[in-house]
Amino acid sequence: MNAGDSILRLADVTRPIEFDLSRPLEVEVGCGKGRFLTARAKANPDCDFLGIERMLERVRLFDGKCRREGIANAKVLRLEALYTFHYLLPAHHARRVYVFFPDPWPKRKHQSHRLFGPLFLNALWKRLEVGGRVEFATDHREYFEAVRACFAADARFEEVEPMPRPPEVWTEFETMFREQGLPIHAAAWKSLPADDSPLAPLVIPESAEPREGVVRRSGASSKSGVQ
Ligand SMILES: C[S@@+](CC[C@H](N)C(=O)[O-])C[C@H]1O[C@@H](n2cnc3c(N)ncnc32)[C@H](O)[C@@H]1O
Repeated sequence: MNAGDSILRLADVTRPIEFDLSRPLEVEVGCGKGRFLTARAKANPDCDFLGIERMLERVRLFDGKCRREGIANAKVLRLEALYTFHYLLPAHHARRVYVFFPDPWPKRKHQSHRLFGPLFLNALWKRLEVGGRVEFATDHREYFEAVRACFAADARFEEVEPMPRPPEVWTEFETMFREQGLPIHAAAWKSLPADDSPLAPLVIPESAEPREGVVRRSGASSKSGVQ
């Protein structure tokens, strides 16, 4: 990877991304402006880092940070995370996956849009190296318990101690929530050896399509955050 342009541009979104498999890889889902991942990339020059973030403005801010700070081992991909995990990452290569403060979709009728569920766990296990870790944090107690229940129901993962996260690596949302005095819930899991069958084609029911913000499907003055 070279410093300069950290935005990963795919010529074909149906072809898996090529990585240097001789170097470890860490991936952050919904990396926002990249505060956490760029700090980790600076501290670990022998590892490659990929942020996945669908909001263009945040991708640009991530890129700006890498340019200013000369970070060459971090890239950001503007794409949907479940799709990226399912189709574009190499099998069993990521040593860590980070998901910090994912959208909690607190209303019951919107919960099908949450990232964590059996589809994501399948793709996550396939992309993590055996023994690789997923680190998760949220301010939302109910989502936290739902995610733990999801992992507890999957024998391919074992809960482990979450990594220490000192203030230098807090994400933008973590910094904001801590300033507001909100409780932060963190957990981590490691992947275990298991039967390694191919992933079935990804079929997402319309009710569970990934969304950003409130999308009103009827009415002329709808405000859609989908980009
Ligand atoms: C609540 S913010 C948290 C951002 C960052 N992790 C932090 O803690 O500061 C959630 C982020 O995930 C991104 N995001 C949500 N769903 C996504 C998806 N399915 N694929 C890629 N990015 C997603 C959003 O655009 C947003 O930047």
